[in-house]
Amino acid sequence: MDKILVHGGRRLRGNVKISGSKNSALPILAATLLTKEPCTISRVPDLSDIHYMLTILSELGCEVERASGTVQIRAEKITTQAPYDIVRKMRASVCILGPLLGREHEATVSLPGGCVIGDRPIDLHLRGFESLGAAVKVSGGNVKVLAPKLTGATISLRSTFGSTVLGTGNVMMAAVLADGTTVIDGAAEEPEVVDLANFLIAMGAKIEGAGTRTITIEGVKELHGAEHEVIPDRIEAGTFLVAGAISGDEVTLHRVNPEHLQAVISPLREAGFHIESNGSKVSIAPGTKRRPLKLDTIPYPGFPTDMQAQMCALLANTDGISVVSEHVFPNRFMHVAELKRMGANIDLQGATAVITGVTQLSGAPVMASDLRASAALVLAGLQADGITEVNRVYHIDRGYESIDEKLNELGAEIERVKA
Ligand code: EPZ
Repeated sequence: MDKILVHGGRRLRGNVKISGSKNSALPILAATLLTKEPCTISRVPDLSDIHYMLTILSELGCEVERASGTVQIRAEKITTQAPYDIVRKMRASVCILGPLLGREHEATVSLPGGCVIGDRPIDLHLRGFESLGAAVKVSGGNVKVLAPKLTGATISLRSTFGSTVLGTGNVMMAAVLADGTTVIDGAAEEPEVVDLANFLIAMGAKIEGAGTRTITIEGVKELHGAEHEVIPDRIEAGTFLVAGAISGDEVTLHRVNPEHLQAVISPLREAGFHIESNGSKVSIAPGTKRRPLKLDTIPYPGFPTDMQAQMCALLANTDGISVVSEHVFPNRFMHVAELKRMGANIDLQGATAVITGVTQLSGAPVMASDLRASAALVLAGLQADGITEVNRVYHIDRGYESIDEKLNELGAEIERVKA
């Protein structure tokens, strides 16, 4: 397994181009199953999670062609049983259930296992499918959904943790070809849900309210092929803003949507950093003094759970006491033990991390555990004394396109060591 060596203490400055959004591209690629006609999706990031999704679609019978960031997909003749060995590697593969159910009225997918950020149930997805008239059968680690007919319904997707992003997308994709009107109450408002809805609308779907808590879908007879460019990755962008905060003179991000970044920009400004946005560019520069923060992760438009680990890395080196509470995935603190190996002073109290800033972290061998925790360890290494060795770097490659190369272009000194 590859590892990354981060030489601490280098200052970052300059420009970085942000890639297309992983969490938007994954459901959009799945949505191409809803038509027999060819679809062209551009600005698709080159990530292992995307590779897994394209492999699953090929195994289902799709013709898939990829040329750098553009993917052509044609789902003319497809089967409805996804291959276990690939599906188990990526929870997001659950989002093929909705389009397969919508088009073929049946689908079988292996149940996503848990992962280090917590149990990853899909009860809300399945409740949504049942409301549309599907029968759900779980056996042998697989979930099978079957619906002789799909009929529009009013569905609540509210959960104790707020809303469900992939659940909202899955139910939307199952409903676009159903008979009649579907109303999703308690829908996720994330930009990735809006991007998926915009792609479905380009295919001929009738959807209103995406980006709000209530989405209304008028079922249509069939969908046609479409072209679509994926939105910028707001979490990659947020990660680079934190890199700039941690060790930047001035770092400018290009090809972003500042509106999607407000929930990250506000706390960084509160923490004392100067941030300016101009069109599709956002720049960050140090202020006079860093300030501690109180952060709560909640569904969009709140502070994103996918940025929690990265902010812990910044706050570990910020004078004063910061409090970070995780309301979406209460167990999402695998990065804390590793940050403490680097000298951070963090006290975990249930789903809250109380961080007492230290003046200097020290480089150490650390273990990546999940996508965002791994990125946080690289960020911590930027500001640490000495070398930080991040092992199991495949976690990072799942969600960040060449993060080491992009950081080195900004002035970091990061080596990737092939194992
Ligand atoms: C999406 O996951 C993202 N992944 C996650 O990003 C992100 O952390 C998450 O949304 C929250 O923003 C993709 O889009 C591929 P959820 P998703 O359903 O949709 C509970 C990353 O780092 N829940 O919104 O799977 C669930 O347990 C990844 O890029 C149920 O209880 O997350 C969690 O506590 C990590 N029942 C909360 O809702 C369900 O049926 C939010 O989960 C579904 C979810």
